[in-house]
Amino acid sequence: MLHPSCGFFLRGSELLASLIWRSASVGRSQLPNDVSTTEAQSAQRTHRGSEQLRKKKKVYVMISDKMAQALNVQANRELYSSYLYLSMSYYFQSKSMPGFAHWMRAQAGEELVHTMKMLDYVASRGGRARMLAVEAPQADWGSPVQAFQHVWEHERIVTGLIHALVKVAEAEKDGQALDFLQWYVKEQVEEEESSDEVLKMVSAAGDTAALAAAEGKLGARRFKFPRGFEMFPRDLL
Ligand SMILES: [Fe+2]
Ligand SMILES: [Fe+2]
Repeated sequence: MLHPSCGFFLRGSELLASLIWRSASVGRSQLPNDVSTTEAQSAQRTHRGSEQLRKKKKVYVMISDKMAQALNVQANRELYSSYLYLSMSYYFQSKSMPGFAHWMRAQAGEELVHTMKMLDYVASRGGRARMLAVEAPQADWGSPVQAFQHVWEHERIVTGLIHALVKVAEAEKDGQALDFLQWYVKEQVEEEESSDEVLKMVSAAGDTAALAAAEGKLGARRFKFPRGFEMFPRDLL
């Protein structure tokens, strides 16, 4: 079927989705409490501005403003996670614990991929990926156990945020976003499991020798940026 405004051939499901988006409200929506009011207002202003521009240029948008904003805010939380784990990595480096520092650096890399994956999705649906301010993470911890306890607690908070995002997708009747977010739901199961495992291992290391063994184990973690998310794409090297 020929789409009336953009002239592209669309499948039936896409046309139905486009009708839903067009009838959906693109008005003011609430950002989560952890983003400052000024930042939220500024994000809403820019979203409204870009929405008007898209309408003017007749660009086909497949994501509601509310859904795009919620994903942009979550991408900011994923980037904060990366920043937090990087902070932990340098904390361990300062304590001469390269194995733990290495594990945290890999964790920071994973979170950066989560950030870009989410922003890529917003852009792929015709939305505008927006960068929000990233808050400064904690810099010091009382002990390795406290740092790993923090990882465990943080991952549980992120799981709650992902579930809240799923609720936004449900309210927006955005089937594609729901499908996309399933990757994050599954990823959080793994994140909670691995942070629990690592916390138990470090907690059980009662003496220096056991801690060194745990460090050696975590230092062997392998991490590679997946294809398409390389920090230094081959063609730029
Ligand atoms: Fe994440
Ligand atoms: Fe995570």
